[in-house]
Amino acid sequence: MSTAKSGREKATAFAPGSVGNVGIGFDILGFAVDAVGDRITVSRSKQPGVRITGCSGIVSDLPLEPEKNTAGRALMALNVAAKPAFGFDMHIEKGIPLGSGLGGSAASAVGAVVAGNALLDQPFGKLELLKFAMQGEAVASGSLHVDNIAPSLFGGLVLTVGIDNPRVKRIPVPRGIAAVITHPHMFLSTKQARAILKREVAMADFVWQTANLAGFISGCYTDDLDLIREGLNDVVIEPQRRQLIPGFSAVRAAALQAGALGCSISGAGPTMFAWVLADQAEAVRQSMVAEFARNGVETDHWIVAVESDGARIVD
Ligand code: HSE
Repeated sequence: MSTAKSGREKATAFAPGSVGNVGIGFDILGFAVDAVGDRITVSRSKQPGVRITGCSGIVSDLPLEPEKNTAGRALMALNVAAKPAFGFDMHIEKGIPLGSGLGGSAASAVGAVVAGNALLDQPFGKLELLKFAMQGEAVASGSLHVDNIAPSLFGGLVLTVGIDNPRVKRIPVPRGIAAVITHPHMFLSTKQARAILKREVAMADFVWQTANLAGFISGCYTDDLDLIREGLNDVVIEPQRRQLIPGFSAVRAAALQAGALGCSISGAGPTMFAWVLADQAEAVRQSMVAEFARNGVETDHWIVAVESDGARIVD
């Protein structure tokens, strides 16, 4: 904890969306998507505890009981640890669709703790905020995974090792790499997409996936695009989930044909992402959007830098 005095009565945080898993790093790897995000405003209240005063934006029917709400539960965790002499009123402005695979619940949880923290006289460090936000994410997905929370909080491509004592490593991304994000207009429940996964992994797939993850991360550290291209290939989770996304195989094939380094499911889906070199980004975007359209699915789509700043106070 720092000893700086806040004195702030109110703060608004922007927390970006994120691509969880990045294909090969199930539950441990993710990158921030700064093009979309939630804005959370927290004010000091004379009444102790946490209240959610409202929810607006593209989703407005979230539960307002703090313990049933991802942002509420995260702020409650911060409140319990900080024991401030005041309470918190919170407004949630959703910019990330629910069930999109873009880390919407994580962004709300991260925004809540970043905004709440800005009001504290002795603010917590980011690693502590990560743990509070994890409590919120568990409300939405039923599990304590960090692959969306860590990039939303820290920005960029992030590896998180451990749950009880999480260690966060920001992975450098070679210059010139961008991401194409295509969000099909459909809802997919993370709980459901987790429930269909088999409990066991075949030994051959385990070896292949481990090699791909290790190769991908090594490629990022050493600017080795061939290693990144080879590594960005999920042989465990994607084959089980791709049937949940209309046109998945055609969209992926079109992205690779247009020059993408790799293409997979964003988090639990249905959003798909591709890593590209910047000068191929537009062609990859158009090919993915066109394939989704051929399968009768409309999309929102963005080209984003993989390197970004993560959650921040904006007001
Ligand atoms: N890593 C989790 C999953 C969360 O794939 O189920 C995705 O957002």
